[in-house]
Formats: sequence, structure tokens, C-alpha cells
Amino acid sequence: MTDPSHGFSDDLEASLAHAFDGLASAATDRRAAMHTPSVATIGLDGSPRSRTVVLRHFDRTERSIRFHTDIRSEKYAELQTDPRIAAHFYDVGEKIQLRLNGRATVHVTDSLANEAWAASQAMSRHCYVTEPAPGSVISDGGNFSIPKGRELTDDGRRHFCAVKMVFTRLEWLWLGSDGHRRALFEWNEQASTPVMRWLVP
Ligand SMILES: Cc1cc2nc3c(=O)[nH]c(=O)nc-3n(C[C@H](O)[C@H](O)[C@H](O)COP(=O)(O)O)c2cc1C
Repeated sequence: MTDPSHGFSDDLEASLAHAFDGLASAATDRRAAMHTPSVATIGLDGSPRSRTVVLRHFDRTERSIRFHTDIRSEKYAELQTDPRIAAHFYDVGEKIQLRLNGRATVHVTDSLANEAWAASQAMSRHCYVTEPAPGSVISDGGNFSIPKGRELTDDGRRHFCAVKMVFTRLEWLWLGSDGHRRALFEWNEQASTPVMRWLVP
């Protein structure tokens, strides 16, 4: 099956290249459907936990994605306990779903975190000065503060964390109009080329 609008046919390598191109543009295009994936962690009680995040970076060579969060969040504590992580993307226009599995590293004081903070806009820094901590129980909905102007300083820096997920499994699903296609790509320890397989959709 060939879909001229996508440029891939029944071609595993082209499908993976298309998925990687989608991740690359989603990291920089705020309007891209895949700009806000769901990421899932393992809760401290062992139950699954998922939430929306903003995709900040994709590195094709390293096979990593990055998002930012607050060290006071539950996901930070969860990843400290168990670094296994999954990410889910759906591009409604392309009719493509991506499911990634891998491991996360959290970066709070290193150069990766410093560079990510330096590149963050005031609007993004704003979240990190919230008091009390995100997720705290409060007496009513508005009973928290985001001190004005502090996003323009480094006040929120101590709460800021960059999370890098290196993935070793990518499952691709395309809802083609003439028939769906599903493929699995798995990278072993040192291999740069994945094991590629078609799956029944
Ligand atoms: C569109 C959208 C984008 C979001 N982006 C982020 C983000 O980049 N980082 C983040 O920590 N939370 C982000 N959130 C909030 C999370 O979905 C979640 O509510 C919050 O981080 C608490 O999650 P946790 O308690 O599991 O740690 C976003 C929510 C929405 C709706």
C-alpha cells in the first residue's frame, strides 16, 4: 500500500523515518498535534499514572525526548523510584499513533538542566514559583499563589527539572484509509539500527 501524501509505502524504514520527522517537528511547532504527548510513569503505589506534558526536544541520534517538570511533582518522585516511562502521541491529521517505552533520567543541577532553564520563556518559568507545591491539597481552588514578576528571575530555578527519556521501543500505528499498518521498532543495548517488525493492526 502506498500513501503518496506521506511518502511511505509498505516500508518499515520509511515509516520509522516519518515517525522521527514527526517527533522532530512536534518538538519545535507549538501547533503540532504531537507537541503535547501523554507520559506514563509507575505510581509510588504501583498503579499507572499518566499526564500531558509539552515536548521540548527530540534527539534522533540519542533516541531521546525531553520535557520539563517541577521537582515537587508526583512524577518526579515516581521517576526517582522507578525510571521506566512510556510516552504516547497521536497526530489526528496524519492518523498516526506513536507509543514509546524507555527510561528517564532527571536533571536538576547539571548543564542539561541549566541550559534548558536558560532557554525557557517567562511564561514557562512562571509555573515553578507556585506556592504551595503543585498537587498540595488546598481549602479552595484559588488558594495558591504565583508571585508576580518572579518568573523573570531565577526564583523558580530550584524547582525546575528537565526529564530526558531515552526510548528503546517505538510502536507505530497508521490508520490508512485503505487499511491500517502497525510496526514495532526495538533497539538493543548498543545497536543503532532497530529490529523492525510488522504487527497486525
Ligand atoms: C497542555 C498541557 C501541557 C502540560 N505540560 C506540562 C509539562 O510540560 N510539564 C508538567 O510537569 N506538567 C504539564 N502539564 C500538567 C500535567 O499534565 C499534570 O497535571 C501535572 O504535571 C501534575 O502531574 P503529576 O502529579 O503526575 O506529577 C500540562 C498539562 C496540559 C493540559
